[in-house]
Amino acid sequence: MCGIVGYIGDKDAPLICLQGLRRLEYRGYDSAGISVVVDGLLDTRKVVGKLDNLEALLQTEPLHGPVGIGHTRWATHGKPSVDNSHPHLSCAGDLAVVHNGIIENYSELREQLRGEGHEFRSQTDTEVIAHLIEKLYQGNLGDAVRAACHELRGSFALGVIHQSHPDLLIGARRFSPLVVGIGKGENFIASDMGAIRKWTDQVYVIGDDEMGEITSQGIELFDLEKQPVHREIFNIPWPAEAAEKGGHKHFMHKEIHEQPAAMRECLLGRLSSPDKPIVLEGLNMTDDDIRGLKKVIFAACGTAYHAGLVGSFLMENFARIPSEGDLAAELRARNPVVLEGTLAILVSQSGETADTLVALRELKEKGARVVSVINVVDSSIARESDGVVYIQAGPEIGVASTKAYTLQVLTLQMLACHFAEVRGVQPPEVLRDMKIGIMNVPEQAAECLAREDDVKAVAAKYYQLHNALYLGRGISLPTAMEGALKLKEISYIHAEGYSAGEMKHGPIALVEPALFTVAVAVQGDVYEKMVGNIQEIKAREGPVIALATDGDEYIPGEADDVMWVPACPELISAATAQIPLQLFAYHVADMKGCHIDQPRNLAKTVTVE
Ligand code: AGP
Repeated sequence: MCGIVGYIGDKDAPLICLQGLRRLEYRGYDSAGISVVVDGLLDTRKVVGKLDNLEALLQTEPLHGPVGIGHTRWATHGKPSVDNSHPHLSCAGDLAVVHNGIIENYSELREQLRGEGHEFRSQTDTEVIAHLIEKLYQGNLGDAVRAACHELRGSFALGVIHQSHPDLLIGARRFSPLVVGIGKGENFIASDMGAIRKWTDQVYVIGDDEMGEITSQGIELFDLEKQPVHREIFNIPWPAEAAEKGGHKHFMHKEIHEQPAAMRECLLGRLSSPDKPIVLEGLNMTDDDIRGLKKVIFAACGTAYHAGLVGSFLMENFARIPSEGDLAAELRARNPVVLEGTLAILVSQSGETADTLVALRELKEKGARVVSVINVVDSSIARESDGVVYIQAGPEIGVASTKAYTLQVLTLQMLACHFAEVRGVQPPEVLRDMKIGIMNVPEQAAECLAREDDVKAVAAKYYQLHNALYLGRGISLPTAMEGALKLKEISYIHAEGYSAGEMKHGPIALVEPALFTVAVAVQGDVYEKMVGNIQEIKAREGPVIALATDGDEYIPGEADDVMWVPACPELISAATAQIPLQLFAYHVADMKGCHIDQPRNLAKTVTVE
């Protein structure tokens, strides 16, 4: 996600913005910039790379002034470059905008503005906002911003300044977070409270389609109809040093809780109605290309591999295309036969994993079309793919992948549904139900997070054991495998994800009171078989934690403990079912005092084979 800081007051705005942006560095970024209004003129400095580059530029080309906005960019549209970095300016260069979010209708707005003579310098959606405000400006900056927000579809947190209004800073938001900081003789805007906690512990958390017109002496909050809005002052309960994690103890915990909002970003502009086609910009495949597919190969590592297994299951079970999920490191070793009409889908959070990149090159060389499902824009795997679908998760700092996984799954759910629709292999009502189910995932994820205390209570019963089995069947097998990976990589408990159907072929020999089993037994085609597996384990005195669907009255009598998930079609259960397992692993590791964000021996990105 991008980071925004704005300041108006008696201090030096560029200095405040730079220091504030440093507290947002954890969000990850690839470029940065600051604009100020001084002596009736707007001036801007922008760089590619880290804030140190911006600080160095400000040394050689100083910028000072009492009102300014700053930005760290996490690329979503357009690769990292000075032109694509924020702030973005109007044609006249008298107005600057910084933005976090995704403007769904930026293409049509850009064409419309181009037709009216506006010239664009970047590939970004954000620049459209600067030109739109310029077009609508008739002397009142607040009115122009409100009018522009009415025309924007999608998500935004905005900071706006104008050289004709040296005493005004504007902040507006829809879906993307923004707070207004309350100072004495100075005021602020920021993407999160941590960025400005050094200077104030009081903020207004403004709501969607609300904005602040801010001077150094006061703050006025309005809705987009210019009706005044009343917001209670929020007193930030934690000290500045806790800021980067937004009050969370670990980045992993923060990222687990970011999932509903990140999921909504992932769906934005792609799946807005069950009665409309899914639009996956960047896929770069025509309907004929999709109809011509004869096989899909998923290749990835670790968590991304588990997401690929979910994708492979859906591609075959729902889109009816022969499909397989491979470990990238193993694919090359078997010298795969790639037939005509093969699509390779490479899944990767970082887009830099060496094994996955090697697999991409191998499959491409053998004639496969390559599409990647990636988080980091313009990463190596993205650049070498024929098509890229970004998951829009924002930076993931914790080494153990959480939100990237569920957004990879969500993206692959959309992809499989899109392919099924184009190939005409599912009836309209089935497709519609699938789209409704996918659209409900963010709310269901939020419901799972609301049950964190229940999961924590279960973790307290098991965190001192040393061995675990995670069992699943069908589309829940990857859920079990990913749950086991989460536990082992942050708590160091030996956990194996296994096909429940395989229990009787060996693993059941391990069952004893000291080994606990997590059984993914959500409602669906394999539920009865999973109950049977639970009974087999209980008969051998193995403790069992079941992952079960709300309303299941049978499971509580079979398992020792239950973690509950909201009811949803089994085919799209993989994303929400993972959340209790993430929370379970997190609390087990926390109770063991493990170094959760940087587990021993692990790196966030493995760029060596
Ligand atoms: C997952 O929690 C691990 N951090 C690791 O397995 C990771 O998923 C794997 O290294 C692949 O990384 P990528 O998604 O960046 O390609």
